[in-house]
Amino acid sequence: MATINKNFDKLQRGYLFSEIAKRTRDFIEKKPGVGVMRLGVGDTTEPLSPFVVKGMMEGVERLGNVKTYTGYQDAEGKEGNIKLQNALINFYKTKNINLEAQEIFVNDGAKTDLANIQSIFGSNNIVAISDPVYPAYLDSTVIAGRTGELVDGKYEGLVYMECNEKNGFVPVPPKEKVDIIYLCNPNNPTGSVATKKQLETFIDYAIKNKAVIIYDAAYVEYISDQSLPKSIYEIEGAKKCAIEINSFSKWSGFTGVRLGWTVVPMDLVIEGTQRGKVNSLWGRRQGTMFNGASNVAQAGAVAVLSPAGLKESKEMVGYYMRNAKIIKDNLLKLGFKVFGGEHAPYIWVKNPKGLSSWEFFDKLLNEAHVIGTPGCGFGTAGEGYLRLTAFGHREDIEKAVKSIRDNFKL
Ligand SMILES: Cc1ncc(COP(=O)(O)O)c(C=O)c1O
Repeated sequence: MATINKNFDKLQRGYLFSEIAKRTRDFIEKKPGVGVMRLGVGDTTEPLSPFVVKGMMEGVERLGNVKTYTGYQDAEGKEGNIKLQNALINFYKTKNINLEAQEIFVNDGAKTDLANIQSIFGSNNIVAISDPVYPAYLDSTVIAGRTGELVDGKYEGLVYMECNEKNGFVPVPPKEKVDIIYLCNPNNPTGSVATKKQLETFIDYAIKNKAVIIYDAAYVEYISDQSLPKSIYEIEGAKKCAIEINSFSKWSGFTGVRLGWTVVPMDLVIEGTQRGKVNSLWGRRQGTMFNGASNVAQAGAVAVLSPAGLKESKEMVGYYMRNAKIIKDNLLKLGFKVFGGEHAPYIWVKNPKGLSSWEFFDKLLNEAHVIGTPGCGFGTAGEGYLRLTAFGHREDIEKAVKSIRDNFKL
């Protein structure tokens, strides 16, 4: 008799976004004709840039020609993987990081690998996550059976690294010994960013405890201060203990195209393994369960990594960060306490007058018709905050900010 993976029953089932949708629907029913402004969703809105579109179109044309057609990942690198791997190697070289092609695994977006990477680790490994946290790390840990039950909003057996105003929403390594640590830098949802020193404490911890850091770098291109690290491998020793997962989604508009990459260094060694073993395990896993990313998407990514593509992506990031500045500056002027929004497209708003996350969500919706994401949806330490995103067309961002200014009663 087949049975289900009972770990799924432990999940808090899609509560956050379905509840947001329900409250929004109720509001629209009560006040038909009032337009709501959505600053809640972390999805890109601006079109692919011209050079990237050209790269993808050429990729499509190659597929339509018998002489240049390619199927599964092409071992000779005419179209796919190797070409992109080389472009990524050169991209890392500009950050003074040397990688080998076999250390780079192209994927169909960061989320896939952030979850699937757990399959190469022992089932009794202890996992640490930040609180608040990007939910994919939490849910994939629960599904993999590395937690107990949910008790008072926290899973037994999981280690939480609380992020709060005191630590600037940057976690510190756990006091106890853990085996796998998820880090998201710059951070979703809080918009915080870690310094080199702060990341060094995690590398020291990981080396000392033979732990692995799964470093989600999806927003690194939003870092504007050149002294801040843009890859975990800028930290000495990181190749021995860190897997970096990145994505073209947020800096090149690939949320719908789907493409990212994972770096598993040859030097990464964990309990009972030798050099290269973890890398080969991930290669084995991908070889068995993944047939490669779309070669059209890869043609687009190669274009992103060219000088023209990098320039256009920088402009796209600049557009969203201008939105972030508009939101942040206006909220500060109105007297809100606001965090993030300088090296990440997320603005973490402290709820006024001690309102709970849902109370503030309702008040913002009812008075200003703006939808945010309640901080409590990202973990118990997110209670009392609300996340706004800078993804949106400029005119919509300005409209939302104006509505908060004119209608919200602080
Ligand atoms: C922190 C973080 N990591 C990963 C992802 C997912 O990226 P991808 O679109 O490459 O799957 C997101 C998407 O919102 C994110 O916020």
